[in-house]
Amino acid sequence: MIYSPSFPVLCHSPRVTVIGAGRVGSTLAQRIAEKNLADVVLLDIVEGIPQGLALDLMEARGMELHNRKIIGTNNYADTSGSHVVVITAGFPRKPGMSRDDLLLMNAKIVVESVTKAIAYSPNAIYIVVTNPLDVMTYLAWQATGLPRDRIMGMAGVLDSARFQTFIAMELEVAPTDVNAIVLGSHGDLMVPLPRYSTVNGIPITELLDAATIERLVERTRHGGAEIVGLMQSGSAFFAPASSTCVMVESILLNQSRLLPVTAYLQGEYGLKDIFIGVPCHLASDGIERILELNLTDAERSALSTSAQVIRKIIDKTQENFVGVSR
Ligand code: APR
Repeated sequence: MIYSPSFPVLCHSPRVTVIGAGRVGSTLAQRIAEKNLADVVLLDIVEGIPQGLALDLMEARGMELHNRKIIGTNNYADTSGSHVVVITAGFPRKPGMSRDDLLLMNAKIVVESVTKAIAYSPNAIYIVVTNPLDVMTYLAWQATGLPRDRIMGMAGVLDSARFQTFIAMELEVAPTDVNAIVLGSHGDLMVPLPRYSTVNGIPITELLDAATIERLVERTRHGGAEIVGLMQSGSAFFAPASSTCVMVESILLNQSRLLPVTAYLQGEYGLKDIFIGVPCHLASDGIERILELNLTDAERSALSTSAQVIRKIIDKTQENFVGVSR
């Protein structure tokens, strides 16, 4: 039984809605149910897919030792009263489609999804996963007018997990002993922070030379592309689903974990009116607090460059996209 001040009643089973029953969404539904965190509503625009996936997950319950309900639907009314809503709906880039075309297509999908979901779950905490993440989260916030503690994007947990993995592989240590942190946008301009990345408290700058760290940072920056390159058709979904699940868990269990989250800034780190990855405490009310780290001039300037690029894409998207109003 959980109690959260955001939700006025005692709840026997929290409910998480996952919009988009593709690879990330369906894997996330599986993780949430099999970790016994909540009932899950899986919603997709394609008829039959979420229903089939939900039934398949329900049939695994006896073996996976949980009793969570998984509902598949195409109808937003079924998502009513969710505690957390995750948006993974969108399309990957197809041959012949420009980045701008994809941006506009996904912008429409994300804004439509979040607008429909909020009508049924006005008190929920919203997590955007659809790419390009920083821009999609901004548009979703703008379309809904949600307070900034209740809407965020998932990127930094994934980028940090990739950095963690590469550090662990290089040093041949357990990934659980590595704490890595990546701030900034979810893309080539992300800002991994080696000074604050440690192996059981020892900064990696004490364990690896500068050239090696730079190699791991570069690999992290292109972590998503490396997987696309290997798979040829398709992109990462296991680690993105795990990363989102970590955020959902911290919210549902009121863990107050310190995680890099794409959050709306109002002057923190010298940045305003932008969603970008920064360390946040995540608990039952969403973003409890943003932690302002001491950054070097170079780190601060990398974060600012990252923000400038996000801002340009937001402006460009808004010029071409009339579906956004506030
Ligand atoms: N409403 C609901 N679902 C939709 C809509 C919509 N308007 N439009 C598309 N979808 C669904 C698709 O039918 C599909 O099932 O979104 C799902 C997307 O799934 P995939 O194509 O498998 O994409 P996935 O790998 O899950 O990635 C989803 O997460 O990490 C990001 O970059 C990734 O933006 C992408 C998103």
